[in-house]
Amino acid sequence: MRSRERRPVVVRKLAGLRRTIARWRADGATIALVPTMGALHAGHLSLVRLARRRADRVVVSIFVNPAQFAPNEDFAAYPRTFAADVKALHEGRADLVWAPTVAEMYPDDFAVQVVPEGPAAVGLEDAARPHFFAGVATVVAKLLTQCLPDIAVFGEKDYQQLRVVTMMARDLDLPVKIVGAPTVREADGLAMASRNVYLTPDERAVAPVLCRVLRLCAEKIAAGRPLAAILAEGRESLERAGFRLDYLEARDAETLRHPVKGRPLRLLAAATLGRTRLIDNVAVRP
Ligand code: PAJ
Repeated sequence: MRSRERRPVVVRKLAGLRRTIARWRADGATIALVPTMGALHAGHLSLVRLARRRADRVVVSIFVNPAQFAPNEDFAAYPRTFAADVKALHEGRADLVWAPTVAEMYPDDFAVQVVPEGPAAVGLEDAARPHFFAGVATVVAKLLTQCLPDIAVFGEKDYQQLRVVTMMARDLDLPVKIVGAPTVREADGLAMASRNVYLTPDERAVAPVLCRVLRLCAEKIAAGRPLAAILAEGRESLERAGFRLDYLEARDAETLRHPVKGRPLRLLAAATLGRTRLIDNVAVRP
């Protein structure tokens, strides 16, 4: 009971993490990992709940990973709410918060990167953010080998990331099952995201148009109308609403390549409102 009340333990050094993981493993416990960059919201907490149902022990990592931010991006300004995150993870019954420093993750002479291809090189997020998936794959590979989980849970909100991590685990023979979890949304449809706090009230009112357009396009595709025309209309609606569009695309749900007849489709979009870049995606009903 006492240890339950003290949960979660916050660990900042790899040696301490390894000791705890080894103890759990010796006890025969199964382990789930939920990687995050903190600033936790209900979307993250839904992953923790899923992890809780699937494993005996739940590790949540909180690490704002400098390697996945470009120099012009918001690494320094990225929202950091560590105390509130730990409190939320206490309520979410996580067992351990893995919160290494940048120096612990990337010592000065750090020299190896995981550079994914396949779904990481299809002209979606990778076009706007060329170094992003090497940064993500490298840190996720490290987190997986540090925590040695049986499963690791990722949100469908970052659909391309979920595909990239799934392929990396497969191609590197990592002994972990990557589990995808559905996107948690605000009542008006806006996908929850740590960066939504950057939206001004006016932008916040426009933001759910992204999800609405994706859903409308998905319905029209499912109804059998020509893809190119539907996407052109969707792009125009987003631009008319005030978004600067990076992409709105229909892709093969697994490979993220251009669609092939008879295979499941995913609709993916990224667009900027003011200074906030939003991404979202929906499945297309077969
Ligand atoms: P972060 O943006 O903090 O997201 C952590 C996890 O939460 C990711 O798997 C993401 O897809 C999921 N998530 C975010 N918003 C969600 C929502 N509205 N519904 C469901 N899941 C949601 O993604 C990252 O961090 C990093 O790239 C990371 C994988 C931790 C590597 O640094």
